[in-house]
Amino acid sequence: MSRLVVVSNRVAVPDDGPARAGGLAVALREALQENGGIWFGWSGKTAVRPAEEPAVTEAPPVTYATLDLSRCDHQEYYNGFANRTLWPLFHYRLDLADFNRQDYTGYLRVNTHFAEKLQPLLRATDDIWVHDYHLIPFASELRRLGVANRIGFFLHTPFPAMEVFLALPSHERLARSLCAYDVVGFQTMNDLRAFQDYIVHEQGGEFLGDNMLRAFGRTLRAEVYPIGIEVEAMQRTAAHAMQEPAVRRLIKHMGERRLMIGVDRLDYSKGIPERFRSFERFLEKFPSHQGSVSLMQIAPVSRGEVPEYKAIRSELEHLAGHINGVYGELDWMPIRYLNKGFPRETLTGFYRACRVGVVTPLRDGMNLVAKEYVASQNPHEPGVLVLSRFAGAARELDAAVLVNPFDHENVADALNRALAMSLEERTERWEAMMQKVHDSSLDKWRERFLSVLRAVPEGGYGAA
Ligand code: G6P
Repeated sequence: MSRLVVVSNRVAVPDDGPARAGGLAVALREALQENGGIWFGWSGKTAVRPAEEPAVTEAPPVTYATLDLSRCDHQEYYNGFANRTLWPLFHYRLDLADFNRQDYTGYLRVNTHFAEKLQPLLRATDDIWVHDYHLIPFASELRRLGVANRIGFFLHTPFPAMEVFLALPSHERLARSLCAYDVVGFQTMNDLRAFQDYIVHEQGGEFLGDNMLRAFGRTLRAEVYPIGIEVEAMQRTAAHAMQEPAVRRLIKHMGERRLMIGVDRLDYSKGIPERFRSFERFLEKFPSHQGSVSLMQIAPVSRGEVPEYKAIRSELEHLAGHINGVYGELDWMPIRYLNKGFPRETLTGFYRACRVGVVTPLRDGMNLVAKEYVASQNPHEPGVLVLSRFAGAARELDAAVLVNPFDHENVADALNRALAMSLEERTERWEAMMQKVHDSSLDKWRERFLSVLRAVPEGGYGAA
């Protein structure tokens, strides 16, 4: 079996300690351990004069190779084009997208540099799996250097509708780069259709059936691979997590009151201000819940140097303060807003202790919190998931209480309904969701993608 080479912006180097390795990192590490391989990408650090060659950590049979970024590269590639252009655009926030040519040049420069540094480490038989929007041009850069290996790409975010993608000045170059891959994976049918639509209608590409596309002189496979979680591990952790000191503290403090929980990176795509406003509407519309139901919002700060992220942070501080000021009592606060992360063990306990999981992004590739909330529930007394229809997860978890996060009235009603739901209905919905969570577990996602990538004929589909 050939080696695997994983390329992603963030690399979970084991030296960084276990706390940083989320489910995805663990799953990718396992894939690398099976046949040996390399995990290549950014070190997460900036340097005034970054070393020319990657820093290598050997953990046989896996090699971790990471590069630092210069301040300028970090600004233009990561803060700039990746997170101020592609991220908002892919999440349908054209109003927030900044189309800065200098950032775009920096994005291409880092992709070129990274490809040039990986190329000497490659063997002819390696299979290469590139992740996410930071690295779309990576394969075309490798191809330019003569790399003919199988290269796959998985987009963790949504792929936007054609009309939105067209607003990107460099849409054609990025689409051409995507077609340099042999396999391109999307989270949902919606994303795949948007991509096909663009390739066929804007670029005159050809849909060959069986998820094959021909465009820009190449043939590739573009398919849906919904990402999942480590279901069994999560269930086991959640069962024990009720004994965690932080979880016990929370339960003791809550007493008879009930909790709803939201867990998100502090990102405008997650719809947290809209959620707070919906929660306010819920308190206003159903006053009997005042004093007895709180929303716990865990939102660790993310991409804090990007102006739009700074703005959402102050908006939320203002909103939480306002709602707590208006509705709070001496012994009850409606919103518990925490700008910090918790270890996974603790989080699963929080999920289990909270009657309602509130996952209401305005747009999300998948949203694994939704799946984690479901897997963490006590099978004998499951909570209710209130889920945005604009999260990729809603495609599978259609037994959740689906909502339109832009419609505060709709979300307020859904929260009320979730609290009133009978155990019988909760159990029925939970069982249906658990089935779906099992069907697309993280292992299955990884195995499906890799088996398709490994089945690409030598030299690519064009050569078949
Ligand atoms: C999203 C992206 C990932 C990214 C993560 C955290 O899930 O799809 O690629 O790693 O957010 O964001 P950060 O900018 O801190 O890497």
